[in-house]
Amino acid sequence: MSGISALEAAARVAELRREIERHNRLYYEEAAPVISDAMYDRLYRELSDLETRFPELSSPDSPTQRVGGAPLEAFTQIRHLAPMLSLDNTYSEEEVAAFFVRLEKLLPGKEMQTVIEPKVDGVAISLLYEEGVLVHAATRGDGTVGDDVTQNVRTIHSIPDRLASGHGCPRRMEVRGEIYLPKAKFAAINEERQAAGEAPFANPRNAAAGSLKQLDPAIVARRGLRAVFYGTGLVEGESWKTHHEALTGLHRCGLPVHEKVWRAKTVAEVFEAIHALDGVRHDFPFETDGAVIKLDSFAQRASIGYTAKSPRWAMAYKYKAEQAETRLLRITVQVGRTGVLTPVAELEPVFVSGSTVARATLHNEEEIARKDIREGDLVVIEKAGEVIPAVVEVRKEHRDGSERVFKMPEVCPACQSPVSRDPGQVAIRCLNASCPAQMRRRMEHFASRGAMDIEGLGEAMVEQLVERGLARDIAEIYRLNVAKLSTIPRTGEKSIANLLNAIEASRGQPLWRLIFGLGILHVGVTSARALANHFYLLDALMAASADDLQRIPDVGPVVAPAIVEHFARPENRAMIERLREAGLNFGERDERREIPAEGGKLAGTWVITGTLSQPREEIAELIREHGGKVIGSISKKTGYLLAGEEAGSKLEKAGKLGVRVVSEAEFRAMLD
Ligand code: IVH
Repeated sequence: MSGISALEAAARVAELRREIERHNRLYYEEAAPVISDAMYDRLYRELSDLETRFPELSSPDSPTQRVGGAPLEAFTQIRHLAPMLSLDNTYSEEEVAAFFVRLEKLLPGKEMQTVIEPKVDGVAISLLYEEGVLVHAATRGDGTVGDDVTQNVRTIHSIPDRLASGHGCPRRMEVRGEIYLPKAKFAAINEERQAAGEAPFANPRNAAAGSLKQLDPAIVARRGLRAVFYGTGLVEGESWKTHHEALTGLHRCGLPVHEKVWRAKTVAEVFEAIHALDGVRHDFPFETDGAVIKLDSFAQRASIGYTAKSPRWAMAYKYKAEQAETRLLRITVQVGRTGVLTPVAELEPVFVSGSTVARATLHNEEEIARKDIREGDLVVIEKAGEVIPAVVEVRKEHRDGSERVFKMPEVCPACQSPVSRDPGQVAIRCLNASCPAQMRRRMEHFASRGAMDIEGLGEAMVEQLVERGLARDIAEIYRLNVAKLSTIPRTGEKSIANLLNAIEASRGQPLWRLIFGLGILHVGVTSARALANHFYLLDALMAASADDLQRIPDVGPVVAPAIVEHFARPENRAMIERLREAGLNFGERDERREIPAEGGKLAGTWVITGTLSQPREEIAELIREHGGKVIGSISKKTGYLLAGEEAGSKLEKAGKLGVRVVSEAEFRAMLD
C-alpha cells in the first residue's frame, strides 16, 4: 500500500466511502449489518489513513467526518437566522377547542386546515444547509443563540451531510426538528450503564440532551441518536405554501420527517387526530408527550403572527403521564454489584401504563427527604413510557400519624458491615467485597446474557447457590456438579444437565465477554470489546498501565484507573487465577489481525462477482488480509476476477479485457 499513487488513492477513497456509507445504512437504517464491527473498523481505518496521507482527498462529507474526530474544546455559539420559538402547551381539551375557535375567528370566511403531528420528547435542533451542504447544527439555546453541536450532529447517521440532489431543495435553509434517543437504545444504554456500575439516565430526553452535549463526538456516535424534522426557519430559494408541502419537500431532500401526520378541518377532526395519535404513539421509536396542532397555510400563519415567545398559529396538547395512587408499604434497601445501596419503594401492586407496578426506585436518601416520603404513605406513582416507575408525590393529607420516617442503614442490610459514603457523592456503599448480596449481583452479572450468557443461571438459581454455599463466587460456578446441584429442592435432572452444559459452553466465550463479566467498575460492553480487540490476551490487559489504557479510543480517564485498580486487588487476581484453572478463554493472539506484509498471497486488485460459498464481504476481507485490494468494477488494470456461480456481465467483460478469471476452488488453492 505504501507505493500507492495519488490517482489510485483517490479511487480507493471513493470506493471506501461508498462502501462505508452502505454499511452505515445497513447498520443504522436497516438494522441488518452484513459485516462484523472489526471489518467495519478496518475499512474505516483504511479510509482515514488514506485521508491523512493524501490530505487533498479529505472532504467534509466523508464518513470519517461523521464519527470520532477530535474532542470538542467547548461549544461555541451560533445565532439562529430565524428565532426558535416555543409552543403554547396545554393539558386541557377545552383549551385546544378554544385555540381552534380563535384561529377561525382570526381567519373569517377562509377555508382553514390544520396539521396534527407527534410532539417528540427530545432536544430541539436547527440545521443550516447551504447549496445542499450541512453547514452547522445548533441547539435551541435561548431561542436566538444556541450551542454549536455540529461535530456531534455529524455523527447522527439519519442526518445527511448533503441533501438529495435533483429535488429542488432550497438554496439556503434552516431545518428545525428534534434529536432523540430511540426507546430501545435508551433501555440498552441504561442497562449498560448499570452493568458498568453507573447511574442510569432518568429518561430518553435527558439521555439525548446529555449525549448531544458530550465533548467527545466518538462517544456521541456510539449512543445511536436519531432525528426527525418538523419545520423550517429561514428558507431561501423555495416557496412552499403549506406546512404539509414543506414536510414533503424536506422528505424529498433526504431529511427524516414523521411518517404519519393528520389533517383536520374541524375541531372534531382535531380531537379525532389527537386520539388516533395517542393510540399509536407507543409504537413509535421515540418518546412522545403530546400532539402539536399547526395551521397548514403559510400565508394564513403570516396573517396571524406571534406572541413574544410562541406562534399564535400552533399549540401543543400534552398527554397526561400515567399516574396511579397506591400505598407505600415499606422501603427496602438493595445492594448493587459494586456495593451501592439503593432505597426501593415496595408498593401495594397497582396497574399503570399497561403493567402492574409493585416497586419503584427512590434513588437515594436525599430524594426521600426532599419529597418527605415515609413508610405507610399514600403516594402517587408515575410511569411515563420507558421510564422506571417513580414516586412523584405524597398525599400528606391522608396521613394518620402511623407513617414512619426512613433512614438509610448504617450497616449493609446483607452483611452487616459498616457502610461508607463516597466523598462528595450521595451514594452509600458497602465496602465488604465478600458481602453475599454483592456476590449474588456479581454472579448474576457474570452469567447474564450480555456477559458470559449462561442460561439457567438467573436471579433465583444464583440465590440458591449463594445461600446454600454451593458457589460463593464466579470461579466456583465452574466446580458445580450433579451432586451439588441435586441438593437444591425442586431442581430436576433435566434442568441440572442443561445448566451444567451451559456452564461448560461458557468456558469458550470470547474474551470481551469475560472482561465485561468480571464486572470492573465503569467497564461496559463497548469498552470490554475495545479492550479485548486491543490486548487479545487477558494477561496483557492485566499488565497494562493507566497510560497504556488511555491510548485506546474507548477508554477514558475514568475507566483506565478503574481497570488498573481492579487488577491490583489481590482478591481479584486470585479469582482470575481460579478462572484460568477452570479453563476459561483468556484470549489468543490472532495473527489474522496483523496488518499483512507487502505482497501477500493475494496481492493485486480483485473484483468479486457471482455467488460464492461465503458472504462477499468475508471473501473481500480475506483478500485484503492477504495483501490484495478489492474494487467494485472491472477494467483492464484489474488483476483477477473471482467468479462464483452465475457470474454475469463481469465475467464477459473480463474475457474481453483479458483479465484473469479465478474460480472459487482456484482462489482457495491460492490461499493454501
Ligand atoms: S414546532 C414555532 N413541532 O417542542 C414552533 N415542535 O415546546 C416550533 N417539539 O422547542 C416548534 N415536537 O423542541 C414543533 N412536531 C413538533 C414538535 C416540536 C417536539 C418541541 C420543540 C420545541 C418544543 C416547543
